[in-house]
Amino acid sequence: MFNEAELFYGHGTSTPIDDAIYLIFSTLDIDLSSDYERSGRILKSSELAELDARVELRIRDRKPVAYIVGKAWFCGLVFSVDERVLIPRSPISELIQNRFEPMLKLPPTTILDLCCGSGCIGIACALEFAGARVDLSDASSECLVVAEENIGRYDLLDRAQCVNSDLFASLSGRSYDLIVSNPPYVSMAEVESLPFEYHHEPRLALLSDEEGLAIPLEILRQAETYLNPGGILVLEVGSGAEALCKRIPEVPFLWMEFAQGGDGVLVIRAEELHHYRECFI
Ligand SMILES: C[S@@+](CC[C@H](N)C(=O)[O-])C[C@H]1O[C@@H](n2cnc3c(N)ncnc32)[C@H](O)[C@@H]1O
Repeated sequence: MFNEAELFYGHGTSTPIDDAIYLIFSTLDIDLSSDYERSGRILKSSELAELDARVELRIRDRKPVAYIVGKAWFCGLVFSVDERVLIPRSPISELIQNRFEPMLKLPPTTILDLCCGSGCIGIACALEFAGARVDLSDASSECLVVAEENIGRYDLLDRAQCVNSDLFASLSGRSYDLIVSNPPYVSMAEVESLPFEYHHEPRLALLSDEEGLAIPLEILRQAETYLNPGGILVLEVGSGAEALCKRIPEVPFLWMEFAQGGDGVLVIRAEELHHYRECFI
């Protein structure tokens, strides 16, 4: 059915079969790693009706499964999601699992997840670096309700907190060993051409002016003020990588390579941000 409907996969799955398993197993509350065929479970008519309704939402409305079932995975962790937040899928997950080595020499004690959405990046960092305090900031107060819920889910209320902030505007006086950000970086022209699944996601989560570079450039301009000496900025710019390199070819960004797929993530040190600060204007 999913095959015939020509759905788009890119919100946590890449094939119709994976998408269907995600939908069915989550709806029936079955562990994704279990061997369902051997369970002998017989479905109730209410479960079948619920499945039908959800398949309809996926096919007719092109709604991504994560929003239908209300959860998504990132770094092997489950997060509550709904249409207030982007569905987690950043390749930064691989960098977190590798503890940002070799770019980080020491475990960070202060971390900022800038543009945090569901909080997936900041929360995964907090769990990876057990001694760190983490700020999760976003301009959308609606997002932060979801991020708070996810912070509670992982019992991190004592060292992870949400801040409602337009980029760094409400973070003055704070400084971090590590700033990680997956900000909006999609241009208006690109947004318009995205498959319908993406139109369920908040526009604020995707859209950035100037060929998608307006928000990433603003982050590059300001981040040095909020980084401790030796600190690093990890910034996802996705398909904006080429445009960024063309615009400021003199800055030696370190572009990450991913074994699990993905690209468009740069790393730059506080000292380099300072050295090249005139280039970001
Ligand atoms: C691409 S989403 C990423 C969400 C999350 N980090 C993730 O990887 O799933 C970008 C986020 O940036 C937020 N955002 C957009 N403009 C912002 C701004 N000016 N200041 C702070 N956050 C902003 C959006 O609300 C959205 O949650």
